[in-house]
Amino acid sequence: MINDKKVLFSAMQSTGNLTLGNYLGALKNWTTLCDEYECFYAVADLHSITVRQEPAEFRKRARNLLTLFIAAGIDPEKNCLYYQSHVSGHAELSWILNCFTYMGELNRMTQFKDKAAKHADNINAGLYTYPVLMAADILLYQADVVPVGKDQLQHLELTRDIAQRFNSIYGDVFTVPEPYIGKSGARVMSLQDPTKKMSKSDENQNGSIYLMDDPDTIMRKCKRAVTDSEGCVRYRDEQPGIRNLIDIYCACNDLTPQEVEKEFDGKGYGDFKMAVGESVISVLKPLQDRYQDLSKNKDYIDRIVKENAEKAGYYANKTLRKVKKKVGFTEMIR
Ligand code: TRP
Repeated sequence: MINDKKVLFSAMQSTGNLTLGNYLGALKNWTTLCDEYECFYAVADLHSITVRQEPAEFRKRARNLLTLFIAAGIDPEKNCLYYQSHVSGHAELSWILNCFTYMGELNRMTQFKDKAAKHADNINAGLYTYPVLMAADILLYQADVVPVGKDQLQHLELTRDIAQRFNSIYGDVFTVPEPYIGKSGARVMSLQDPTKKMSKSDENQNGSIYLMDDPDTIMRKCKRAVTDSEGCVRYRDEQPGIRNLIDIYCACNDLTPQEVEKEFDGKGYGDFKMAVGESVISVLKPLQDRYQDLSKNKDYIDRIVKENAEKAGYYANKTLRKVKKKVGFTEMIR
């Protein structure tokens, strides 16, 4: 508990451009959680170097992601937005937790297997222990809840196992986190292959709408979205393309699928796709404007980065001191 609130932790990597899926599925909901939770959101830059990064580009992207968090409506005075690499406790706790994680557990992680197959020339130890760093992120803040996508659930399960194992040896040190199940965000699928999640790392750029896409691009991508030959706007498993567009339209306009079916009853896909495009444009435009304003305000962002790193560091150190003592490290003489 911090300030009588439960603690929520989540993080995102700055690799790849954020998509409409990241916004509707995660960021948009993150903006309101601070009423109920003490929220920490990190730019997971330590995780990103498990894949080779070009330094200048990497630095720029990390800053852009942090700026986007704010542009998306996450108030940096009420939420702790910071770079993971600014708080050394993440790496320190990660090492300690490595010694409480079994290789057998890491061998079972499906994301590791996928990534190892994708980056066969760079299967580094960091890629393998990536889930342990995630566990450290979460446990460092004694997080009660973690909003994660389905693809990260296995890592959260592992985090719980590590926390419970540690607690059973040393007493109650860590809060055992739960997945955040609240008003869940929309699950947005690729516009080109509606059986796949819309992803910032998709090679097919037409499958994803990026948060910084201009209106023409957004409209073009919506018009080209893969659908079917049924010809009616129905929310059914048999029409995954249309179903996905309905989900997007619902999330943008706060509607239910039934309301959308009714609105487009008897209308063609052309009209519907156009309406979806317009909705997406009107949701993204204010975000893009704020982003442009914030990008010009270097001093403001710098202040946020500094203050929030200090705040995160304060809570991280509290946990870390406790952990080190429990493990039996000798205290530093000051
Ligand atoms: N690995 C997560 C992703 O790529 C990002 C992440 C890092 C994270 N640490 C975390 C998410 C802790 C939730 C909690 O999506």
